[in-house]
Amino acid sequence: MRQLIAGNWKMNGTAAMAADIAAALAAAGELPCDLLVCPPATLIAEVARLLAGAPVAVGGQNCHARASGAHTGDIAAAMLRDAGATWVILGHSERRADHGETNEVVYAKALAAIAAGLTPIVCVGETEAESQAGRTQAVVGSQLAASLPEGFAGAVAYEPIWAIGTGKTPTEADVTAVHGFIRGELKRLLGPAGEDVRILYGGSVKPDNAAALLALPEVGGALVGGASLKAADFLAIAAAAHA
Ligand code: PGA
Repeated sequence: MRQLIAGNWKMNGTAAMAADIAAALAAAGELPCDLLVCPPATLIAEVARLLAGAPVAVGGQNCHARASGAHTGDIAAAMLRDAGATWVILGHSERRADHGETNEVVYAKALAAIAAGLTPIVCVGETEAESQAGRTQAVVGSQLAASLPEGFAGAVAYEPIWAIGTGKTPTEADVTAVHGFIRGELKRLLGPAGEDVRILYGGSVKPDNAAALLALPEVGGALVGGASLKAADFLAIAAAAHA
């Protein structure tokens, strides 16, 4: 399966920035990977319009677990779909930390996303303290078991929290070990279909480390934060992907 390079703009972006990035992505031509951009909600419709016809998908960064109703400030999965999104990031560590999202909430959101026709990217990852205590696999294993609905056919992003936005990355051996562990858990939880779930690595992916990270076994792509805000950097990461 082709690797997926996904850009998470987080709470960044204006219409002018979106136009610049979308123009660069639309002009990029043939890439060795699938490409996805997840702008803030205010820009999804505009970015989807700018990228119509280009081989670049658009996604949301979150959705509500309910289909509609009295949830001021929230966005339903079907509304993301209506705006042109086909993917949604769920359970990002910043959502878990800032909004108290538990695995159970992420599970409910994944169900809502799938019902609306979106493909979820479910994020998992350990804190620095958990990493130092040797608890990475225990934490990631319990996040997967509690967050993924039966028949899950989206992607999983392994994002060590201490590597997000810090410039730090785990060793290649550690990424290989965790991704191998996740693959085993996906097969245990989902059966043979667990083989087809792409496992993205996220956390300080940059043009200068992308090729090494994307070459590791069971790394099915990257979830890119900071470096996705510069089209040249994001495209350099995409160029380092392999089929
Ligand atoms: P980063 O963020 O690339 O800026 O470390 C990754 C993420 O949080 O998805």
